[in-house]
Amino acid sequence: MRILVTGGAGFIGSHLCERLLADGHDVTCLDNFLSGARRNVAHLEAHPRFTLRVHDVTLPFEAEADRIYHLACPASPRHYQSDPVSTVRTNVLGTVHALDLARWSRARLLLDYRMLFFVYSCVIMHSVM
Ligand SMILES: NC(=O)c1ccc[n+]([C@@H]2O[C@H](COP(=O)([O-])OP(=O)(O)OC[C@H]3O[C@@H](n4cnc5c(N)ncnc54)[C@H](O)[C@@H]3O)[C@@H](O)[C@H]2O)c1
Repeated sequence: MRILVTGGAGFIGSHLCERLLADGHDVTCLDNFLSGARRNVAHLEAHPRFTLRVHDVTLPFEAEADRIYHLACPASPRHYQSDPVSTVRTNVLGTVHALDLARWSRARLLLDYRMLFFVYSCVIMHSVM
């Protein structure tokens, strides 16, 4: 399968990329290195079935994908509290763009439940303000 991992250079994403490659998939890692690091996937960059794309998920993205693991979100409080507005943008816009891509490419999307929590929180806050 062709698999896109957003946040693929992070803690969970980099291990997931390794595992998916080992299972024989074509893996695209999309990350802007906000809280992850290129060194986390440096050992994969020469792999023939691995592609690294430096991109911010708050901007639309395209990829040929059968499955999308959407993990692009700073997970540690130090990172997600340092710029709360940017964190909300990442969760809301990043999730919308991942959903758009899933619909366009008819891919299955795996979404971290915390993203949905952020999205629903924003919708609820917006509706009561
Ligand atoms: N680590 C845990 O114990 C844990 C547990 C449950 C859920 N999660 C969730 O899994 C996901 C990944 O967690 P992690 O621990 O690997 O975090 P991490 O911070 O190590 O990885 C997140 C990755 O997303 C990237 N990223 C952040 N903003 C981005 C943007 N705008 N565009 C592109 N890439 C961006 C970061 O650079 C990083 O590589 C998070 O959504 C987190 O909430 C983590």
